[in-house]
Amino acid sequence: MKKEIIAGNWKMNNNKEQTLALINELKPLVKDAKCEVVVCVPFTSIETARKALRGSNIKLGAQNVHWAPKGAFTGEISADMLVEQKVKYVLVGHSERRQYFGETNQSVNARAKAALGAGLNVIMCVGETLEERETGKTADVVTKQTLEGLEGIEKDGLKKIVIAYEPVWAIGTGKTATAQDANDTIAIIRKAVKKLYGRNYAKSIRIQYGGSMNPGNVKELMAMPEIDGGLIGGASLRAKDFAAVVLDR
Ligand code: PGA
Repeated sequence: MKKEIIAGNWKMNNNKEQTLALINELKPLVKDAKCEVVVCVPFTSIETARKALRGSNIKLGAQNVHWAPKGAFTGEISADMLVEQKVKYVLVGHSERRQYFGETNQSVNARAKAALGAGLNVIMCVGETLEERETGKTADVVTKQTLEGLEGIEKDGLKKIVIAYEPVWAIGTGKTATAQDANDTIAIIRKAVKKLYGRNYAKSIRIQYGGSMNPGNVKELMAMPEIDGGLIGGASLRAKDFAAVVLDR
């Protein structure tokens, strides 16, 4: 049985004090969660979050990782630096990274490989833009992102990967994909995984939906057979909302 996974993506929010307050509020609310719970915090909050999460069922995540072990890469963080801080999960290829910071399927792939090499779990994000959806390119775009993002990753590595399907037009906009659309696109992503790794791996990989998921729509989305979890942005910044999403699982 796959364990569902709900991850919060705090993005560029919360200083250390706010991090501590949010985690302390969240911990008791989600302590009986049946799903896996992760919070992906800003780099500067990692140490505070690590200490605050000790002994809880919430796992620590980061929002990006560089592909090189060290060197002249101003502004970047290596996988070993995250491991040193007991980080368990890292996001790669979030659409905001692709949109504003020039991430490509190849850089996403390189970052994922470095993270896996250091023993981290990876949440790899894929998703189409509004224009791509409206011009009928969704299937091609998410298939290519999946195939190229996973290229050269061994089966053992795949076991540590979660894919997040996040239609770009649904992120932070309050617009959600319909549960059926999300389900159908995730089925396409699963097909791409099958092409690379075969049926069993495609079945067992966890694929989340992300994009304005909140306490009001989580039930309907998570009732879909292809959806194995959620990546939550805005709603993860409010302990009660994030907990409501988690506890619905
Ligand atoms: P949102 O963000 O829930 O605020 O739409 C999701 C994400 O970007 O991961």
